[in-house]
Amino acid sequence: MGFDPGWLALREPADRAARDATLLRRAVALAGPGGSVLDLGCGTGSTVRAFEGAGATGAHWRLFDNDAGLLARAAVLHPEAAICQGDLAEIDALPLEGVRLVTASALFDLVSRDWVERLAARLVAQGTALYAALSYDGVMRWSPEDAEDAAITAQFNAHQRGNKGFGAALGPSAAETAAGIFASLGYEVQCAPSSWRLGPQEAEMQRLLLAGIAQAAAEAGYAGAEGWQTRRARVLAEGWAEIGHIDLLAVPPGDGRRA
Ligand SMILES: C[S@@+](CC[C@H](N)C(=O)[O-])C[C@H]1O[C@@H](n2cnc3c(N)ncnc32)[C@H](O)[C@@H]1O
Repeated sequence: MGFDPGWLALREPADRAARDATLLRRAVALAGPGGSVLDLGCGTGSTVRAFEGAGATGAHWRLFDNDAGLLARAAVLHPEAAICQGDLAEIDALPLEGVRLVTASALFDLVSRDWVERLAARLVAQGTALYAALSYDGVMRWSPEDAEDAAITAQFNAHQRGNKGFGAALGPSAAETAAGIFASLGYEVQCAPSSWRLGPQEAEMQRLLLAGIAQAAAEAGYAGAEGWQTRRARVLAEGWAEIGHIDLLAVPPGDGRRA
């Protein structure tokens, strides 16, 4: 499963606007100057840029992904970061030594419950915090409405629960599931909405998003996907879309940095 760098670049400003400012600020403080931060599924490094935009300085980033093309871009954009190529599915091999904070964005909806449990076991063992931003939450709304919006959303959500390389994906329940797992280990967990609100200025992003949603719904067996996409594309200039996400911050037990 590849992630197009053009799509990642297009969504980055919407992601930046959507991130919950309070949780991002707390995550930046948890990283602190001089702390080591491991970004899982880093793409081209959007989380580093979000942290820098929120005032982070001096953190030592390890950028982890399996896509050599995305990592090559990340290396150019963030020459000071350590670039790590590997498979996230191999939790025991993740370079977590000395890491104070693990970050991820737009990743936790791809992974399975088992994957989160195994990651949480490693993080709690060494007292590492987690900031997992922008997990899709299953809610999509459009204006103007279309009679098939709800059916498309249901089909898309079913597709989101398919295997993305980690076993059955958490999809829309990602943040809730991760919050429960980390809370059960004594972490202080905070969640906050980080929905995209997309208008006519984001027409190009919306066009690609509609195509992706329609393709997933079609793959899930929905016959009306193409017609829905065509009708939605016609009204891009007059409406908006709201795509639900959730940010999560989990601070380990006994950490003086808990709120
Ligand atoms: C939706 S993208 C998010 C990228 C980046 N965090 C962002 O917000 O722009 C998911 C990222 O996870 C990476 N990824 C997916 N499965 C992976 C795996 N098994 N091992 C390592 N990276 C993986 C992809 O290459 C991609 O960069």
